[in-house]
Amino acid sequence: MTNRKPFVGGNWKMNLHGDEAALLAKQLVDSLPSNEKVDIAVFPAFTYLASVGAILKDSAVKLGAQDFYTTENGAYTGEVSLSMLKDVGVSVVLVGHSERRHVLGESNSTCNQKTLAALDAGMEVILCIGEKLEQREAGQTNFVNYGQMALGLAGVTAEQMSKITIAYEPVWAIGTGKTATPQDAQKAHAAIRNFLIFAYGQEVASTVRIQYGGSMKPGNASDLVGQDDIDGGLIGGAALKSSDFTAICEAAVSK
Ligand code: 13P
Repeated sequence: MTNRKPFVGGNWKMNLHGDEAALLAKQLVDSLPSNEKVDIAVFPAFTYLASVGAILKDSAVKLGAQDFYTTENGAYTGEVSLSMLKDVGVSVVLVGHSERRHVLGESNSTCNQKTLAALDAGMEVILCIGEKLEQREAGQTNFVNYGQMALGLAGVTAEQMSKITIAYEPVWAIGTGKTATPQDAQKAHAAIRNFLIFAYGQEVASTVRIQYGGSMKPGNASDLVGQDDIDGGLIGGAALKSSDFTAICEAAVSK
């Protein structure tokens, strides 16, 4: 048992159009557990941040953004800044999601710039890390996670770590229906925490939340979040259905 408050995020990715996003947000406001025992955030597409944010306004659910650009404003066609996100109520951002790293080509150095910029802007950051299947099979899981943390967190101070959550999302488990076993996930999470102890000391490392992501659903959530070093989840597919997402948040409450 730990005294870290679990944190569950719903990453809606590029799913749900206006009415669907609004409906899900309304259902979540009605069904999610209170925030005394679990922190909850949802990450809608940019176009629906304002409308979903308005629905979540008086609820305990935080509004999150899936991406952003590091510069305040200027000639960056297509990009959205952190201050624009703040305008619509965003308080937490994802950095380094595997789809941004491996589909859209984001480097560790970009992830680092984003992490530092978001902290500077007063945002909470969920830094996503995780190995691909071939890396896992080659026994490189910890090596990949350590590298992504060392480079992604470069320049982040011990004080700033209170605003950081790590999401361990093994790439081979995302959207595939394949989940790491609770024991395998715990092993990876414990190694991640060891890295944090090495980098920031025991006291800081023991407060950082480490979410698991990758085909987490109501049927496996309790076993996963029941592990010592699994402090919640970052949910994709199952976050698109209010009853599933609610069940996962309830599982985190009873950790
Ligand atoms: P799935 O839950 O669909 O596997 O997605 C996980 C994820 O990528 C959350 O960011």
